[in-house]
Amino acid sequence: MILINKKFGGDFEFDESFLVKNFPFKIAQGGGIRSLIYFSCARSALYTLLKYLKIKSAILPLFICDSVICAFRALNTEISFYKINPDLTIDLDSFKNNLKPNSAIFLMHYFGKIQEQEILDKIKDLSIQNNSIIIEDTTHSIFSSAVTIGDYCISSLRKWFFVPEGGILYSNKDIDIKLNSKINENFLNCRKKAQQLKSCAIKNQTKDESYLEYFCIAEKMLENDYFPYSMSDYSKEIIEKFDYLKMIEKRKENFLTLQEEIKNPLITKLIEYKKGQTYLQYPILIKNRDEFRKYLFKYNIFCAIHWVAPKNINKDLDFYLNNNIISLMIDQRYSISDMKYIASIINKYSGSKDE
Ligand SMILES: Cc1ncc(COP(=O)(O)O)c(C=O)c1O
Repeated sequence: MILINKKFGGDFEFDESFLVKNFPFKIAQGGGIRSLIYFSCARSALYTLLKYLKIKSAILPLFICDSVICAFRALNTEISFYKINPDLTIDLDSFKNNLKPNSAIFLMHYFGKIQEQEILDKIKDLSIQNNSIIIEDTTHSIFSSAVTIGDYCISSLRKWFFVPEGGILYSNKDIDIKLNSKINENFLNCRKKAQQLKSCAIKNQTKDESYLEYFCIAEKMLENDYFPYSMSDYSKEIIEKFDYLKMIEKRKENFLTLQEEIKNPLITKLIEYKKGQTYLQYPILIKNRDEFRKYLFKYNIFCAIHWVAPKNINKDLDFYLNNNIISLMIDQRYSISDMKYIASIINKYSGSKDE
């Protein structure tokens, strides 16, 4: 096996080749979007929305990013949880059993795979009977569908490309929220610096990994800070110029390559490609996930985990997905031959600790 001198994964570096003039695609286009507000990050968009709607209780999926739970907790929202099945669909029985009267409903479409229409229809009916508002988190699915049954949507665009900030709140209803124009300068500058350093490190093939520290510091800045900062003009310009069509095409071919090339019986694939859907990552299930992740590190493949079990939560709940899932990169930075390389490393994995 040839070890290639390239690192896979991690935050996005700045890449000018993806910027084009006046790209015709508009975020959250379609679906009759009436309101769109640009925040610095999605968690403060969510926090601001919860406050605006005066949400007192909510039902959330157990398989979710801790930063989402923290935004609810910061407002002392009463929270109940529902289960997500190992195939990433909503467990409707668990949903019905845990839904409290008037609770807001929070849902998402994992990795870009839109929940089945039948389930969405049932949830919509339940929301009407229950007098519940639906908040749809489209962080993973905005390029598959801007909105399905959500009354309000939030999204974090920085998970898709190198925009340093990226929280949006949008709806097909009016939203009477006016942000003052304060920018989160420290966060913005730290992320810009990290992206530029990473871009230099990649171009010069240097070992300078100081960018990691800046990405880390920026992430820490977001903890417990729900101030409704506006998105900077710098980030908005990137959102307006980014070549989404190129990104969508690259992700599609990379996804299909992994789908075709991974043939390791230890691995369970979770999503089969569906036309019209654009995926954030290629999620798989594997026993001893953490060992497998370390094995990939040895080949410079740094995969994310969406998401380890949230902190401060009843540990008796079912965290099967959280404990066994790992997300493989398929983004626009990589080529089909990169995917073939990653698949070959994965196919070689036998599950033995000494690998
Ligand atoms: C599904 C999901 N929603 C929302 C957020 C919050 O996004 P941001 O980091 O922009 O605050 C995250 C963060 O990772 C996330 O994974």
